[in-house]
Amino acid sequence: MASPASLAHPAPAEGETGFVDPTQEELILVLDFGSQTAQLIARRVRDQQVFCQLVRHDLPIERIKELNPKGLIFSGGPASVYGEKSPQVDPRIFELGIPILGICYGMQLTCQWAGGAVRPQARREFGRTACQIISQDTFFENFPEEFVVWMSHGDQVQELTEQFEILATTETCPYAAVRHRSLPIYGIQFHPEVTHTEFGHQLLDNFVKRVCGCQGTWRMSSLIDREIAALRERVGSSRVICGLSGGVDSSVVAALLAKAIGTQLSCIFVDNGLLRQGEAERVRERFQKHFKTDLHVVDASKEFLSELAGVSDPQQKRKIIGRVFIEIFRKEAESIPDARFLAQGTLYPDVIESGANVDGPAATIKSHHNVGGLPEQLGFELIEPLRDLFKDEVRRMGLELGLPEELVWRHPFPGPGLAVRCLGAITPERLRVIREADTIVIEELRRSGLYRQVQQAFAVLLPVQSVGVMGDGRTYEDVIAVRAVQTDDFMTADWYHIPYEVIGRISTRVINEVRGVNRVVYDVSSKPPSTIEWE
Ligand code: XMP
Repeated sequence: MASPASLAHPAPAEGETGFVDPTQEELILVLDFGSQTAQLIARRVRDQQVFCQLVRHDLPIERIKELNPKGLIFSGGPASVYGEKSPQVDPRIFELGIPILGICYGMQLTCQWAGGAVRPQARREFGRTACQIISQDTFFENFPEEFVVWMSHGDQVQELTEQFEILATTETCPYAAVRHRSLPIYGIQFHPEVTHTEFGHQLLDNFVKRVCGCQGTWRMSSLIDREIAALRERVGSSRVICGLSGGVDSSVVAALLAKAIGTQLSCIFVDNGLLRQGEAERVRERFQKHFKTDLHVVDASKEFLSELAGVSDPQQKRKIIGRVFIEIFRKEAESIPDARFLAQGTLYPDVIESGANVDGPAATIKSHHNVGGLPEQLGFELIEPLRDLFKDEVRRMGLELGLPEELVWRHPFPGPGLAVRCLGAITPERLRVIREADTIVIEELRRSGLYRQVQQAFAVLLPVQSVGVMGDGRTYEDVIAVRAVQTDDFMTADWYHIPYEVIGRISTRVINEVRGVNRVVYDVSSKPPSTIEWE
C-alpha cells in the first residue's frame, strides 16, 4: 500500500491530483472528465462530512481497488461520449460493486456502457428546469415530488436499456435521473453541485450516506492532522520559507507549517508601503503571539515608493510591484540558510481548470492578479497545502487551527495593495489620505455589524479634485469613493445597498477627519461590467 499522502504531497501518483489517503476510512472519489465543477462536487461531499478527492477519469482500476472508496462519482465534461477521443473509464469499474453516481457526461457514459443511446438534443439545454420524481428511491429520500434542477448539456440519453429504471424526468429530458435495477449505479442529467439545483446537497448526502453507506465521520481536524503528517514527511529536517501577506490564506499555511515543523519554519513579510493602516504591526504582533517561529519583516516601503514615483498606469504599477516584491523577497530568502521549500497559500479557485482538457485538472495559475506569486526560478520546491480547497474550507481550517476570527474573516486585500486604490500617481501624502479614509470605512462597517455582510469594502482615492466650502473659504480638495460589494466568488459582484445612516456617518467622518478630502461618493456599479477594484 502506498504511504499516506495528503494535500501537500509532492508528487501525486499518476491520475491523482493531490491528496488521496488510502488509510482514510470513508472515501468518495470524483472521477474528473474535464468538468468545470468537478472540484465543487468533491467539496460538496466534504460538506457532508465525508472525505472526498478528485482524481483523473482514467485512474487505473487497480489503484481504485487499493484506495477502496465507498463510492465513485463521475463528473460532467465537455466531450460527447460518442466522440472519437471521448474520455472513457475502464468498463470493469461498473462491476466492482462500488456505488457509482454519474452526473451529466458521467451519466451518459454509464448509460452507454449498458447499451443505451446518447445523442445530441435539437437544442442545448442550459438553466433551471422543473424535475418530477416518478419513482421513489432512497436516492430521493426527503425530496418533494417536484424540485428545480440546473441543466447544462447538449447531449442526453435518448434510449435507455432495460437494465435501468427511470426515477425522475423533466419536460425535455425523459431520463433526468435513473438507477440500475441490480447494481448500485445512478445517473443524473442535472448538476446537484451547483446552488441553482434545489436539494442538491440532499441528493449528494443521500448518495454518500444512504447508497454508499458512509457515516459522515470526517472532520476538518482530520484533514489538518493528515496535512501535518504529510508536511512532516515531505519536509524532513529541511527549512521552509513561507511568504506572509497578512491575509487568511498565507496565515493558514503558516499555521499549518508552524504546527508541523515548528522552528524549521521561517516567514517573510514584505512591507511594501502600500498596506492598510497598522497592517505590518498587526502581522508582527499576531504572528509572534500565535506561531513563535522565525519571522522576517522587511520594510521595503522606500524601494517600492521610489520605483512607483510618477507612475499612474495601473498595469505598470502592478508590474513594478510584482518585480520589486520578487527582488526583495529573493534577497531576504537568500539570507536564510538551508531553505529548501517555499510554501504558498494557493487555493483551488486560483487554479484554473481547463474545462476542455479531458486529461483532468490542468493547473495554470492566474497571472492577472497574481502579483504576490513567486516564480519557480527562486530555486525552491513549492509546497501548496491548500490547493484543493475552497476559501470557506480554508477559513474553517484557520478557525480550527486557532487563528483569530478577525483574521479568518478579513476581506481580501489585493497584492498591489493601496497602489490600485490610489488612482493616478502614488505619493506618501496620497497614501496617507487613502489609508485614513479606508480605516474609517472599515471601522464604520464593523461598528454597524455590516463587515461580514459584504465580501469586500474599501475606499478609493480619485484622481480628481472638487470644489467645496469650508468656513468662509472655498476648498479644492480630494474625492473619496466608497465601494462595498457582495459576491460569492469575486467573478461577479453586486454593489451593496449600504444603509443611508452608515454611508452618511462614513462621509461625515472622512470629510471631518481626513485632511485634504471634501467629498465622498458611493460606488453603485456591479461586476460585470465594472470590476471590484477601480484600477
Ligand atoms: P476585480 O477588480 O478584477 O477584482 O473585479 C476581483 C478580486 O481580485 C482582487 N484583485 C487583485 N488581487 N492582485 C491581487 O492579489 C491584483 O492585482 C488584484 N486586482 C484585483 C480584488 O481585490 C478582488 O478581490
